[in-house]
Amino acid sequence: MAKDNATLPRRGFLRLINQALIATGLAAILGPIVAFFWPAKLEEMPSEPVAVGPVGSIAVGESKTIRFGRYPALVINTPDNGLLAYSAVCTHFACLVKWNPESGMIECPCHEGYFHPSDGSVISGPPPEPLESIPVFIEDDTLFIGGEA
Ligand code: FES
Repeated sequence: MAKDNATLPRRGFLRLINQALIATGLAAILGPIVAFFWPAKLEEMPSEPVAVGPVGSIAVGESKTIRFGRYPALVINTPDNGLLAYSAVCTHFACLVKWNPESGMIECPCHEGYFHPSDGSVISGPPPEPLESIPVFIEDDTLFIGGEA
């Protein structure tokens, strides 16, 4: 009789551990699948402009990645269209994109997504939407992004 009382709580505990492991495994499998089909959106952009640096701090053909609210932004001094800024968060799976001056494209290293530097549109790869454009302006010899353009 005393033996039954000792084994029942142990079985219940083992059942509970088993269910917790199954739930953890399902969450580990389903989490990335859900994130894949509902890609991250850029939200929480700062309402105020963010200073990038002095005018001329980004040479033609170069770029700078800066903190823009919760997410980084990519500021490019494009040879054809001048200073442009985009969210640096890929619209596919939220990896960070980079400017490649050799190819002349904005590239996402995660799944080979390519974006056009003039408007952030998708050139090729899996990203479902263009990069979000951010206004650029100059005030008092300082380059700003965001806010009212
Ligand atoms: S996360 Fe950028 S292409 Fe997949």
